Amino acid sequence: MIAYENLQQVDKEFMDEYTHVFQEVLHGGWYILGKQVQQFEQSFANFCGVEHCIGVASGLDALVLSLRYFAFKPGDEIIVPANTYIASILAIVQVGLKPVLVEPDINTYNIDPKRIEECITKKTRAILVVHLYGKMSDMDPILQLSAQYDLKIIEDCAQAHGAKYNGQKAGAFGDFGAFSFYPTKNLGALGDAGAITCKADILNNSIRTLRNYGSSAKYVFDEVGYNSRLDELQAAFLSVKLKYLDKITAHKQRLAAVYLRELKSDFILPVVQPRQEDVYHIFAIRHPERDRLRAHLLANEIGTEIHYPIPPHQQKAMKGILSDGGYPISEEIHRTIISLPISYGHTEEDINRVVEVMNKFL
Ligand SMILES: Cc1ncc(COP(=O)(O)O)c(C=O)c1O
Repeated sequence: MIAYENLQQVDKEFMDEYTHVFQEVLHGGWYILGKQVQQFEQSFANFCGVEHCIGVASGLDALVLSLRYFAFKPGDEIIVPANTYIASILAIVQVGLKPVLVEPDINTYNIDPKRIEECITKKTRAILVVHLYGKMSDMDPILQLSAQYDLKIIEDCAQAHGAKYNGQKAGAFGDFGAFSFYPTKNLGALGDAGAITCKADILNNSIRTLRNYGSSAKYVFDEVGYNSRLDELQAAFLSVKLKYLDKITAHKQRLAAVYLRELKSDFILPVVQPRQEDVYHIFAIRHPERDRLRAHLLANEIGTEIHYPIPPHQQKAMKGILSDGGYPISEEIHRTIISLPISYGHTEEDINRVVEVMNKFL
């Protein structure tokens, strides 16, 4: 069986180092906000090419804290792609703001910059861009709109560690970059973890306060904050994995190249754009008979996933929050998309086998 993902396989190479840093933290006797977190924050900021990184408890929290920082008024509007993972929308709702869905570009699956302007109102405060599947959103026109209408930019980088646009990395474009280190991500922890990147000192200081109960000094509380701290163990594991992130990315890019070269033209493949470097967190293709294709792959012992089967506006949780119609492009994507195996744990042989089975699909 070629499983869609196998974390035991992915993490095998790092086990000895994980065990070593686990012992170090255990014997150090300091488990929350210590030197491991500081070290990881510094290394990840360097990796992204930004001044600051603040470790938090999850990718969702990274989005929530970023939005909270601006103290927008209840009901203010945040633009967000209609086909994103639900967390981007939950974050907006959880801080009392209104998500305004914008359809994606059918070729890139990222927010379509041409459709943003018609959704901007007097209440629009920010654009939450999502670099879905490991591909950067088209940042030039988005930054232009942000300057023109004085809108904040938050990047949801949960799927895009190290992805580049014009040579600049995800998390280095917006006011904030929000990262998830959920175990299956390209940079995955051994549990929940996340981080926020930013350039300005004032943003850095405020997020550090917000993540720790709103505390500016011990037992002094300036704001109604959160308990959303990255813990020492996860930071230590992440520092180990970060050393290998470029290698992990290169491996996934190699596997993607096999798919792009070998899959027959019946499948709609991810677009490759000249000024972008995709990191292929997910290798998503489309086919009108997606469910039959998935069954064909499973019958040949190949696991796949669907990111995602139900669009946010059709989720029960979003009843009364999002209008449940008017997003035909998102619906088309959700109906036809399927994610093929592309893990650090897969070999080129695995991918050749997937290609062989795919190309026999009638
Ligand atoms: C696009 C996107 N945003 C946000 C998140 C939330 O991250 P986490 O699961 O760490 O809270 C995810 C996680 O899967 C994601 O894919």
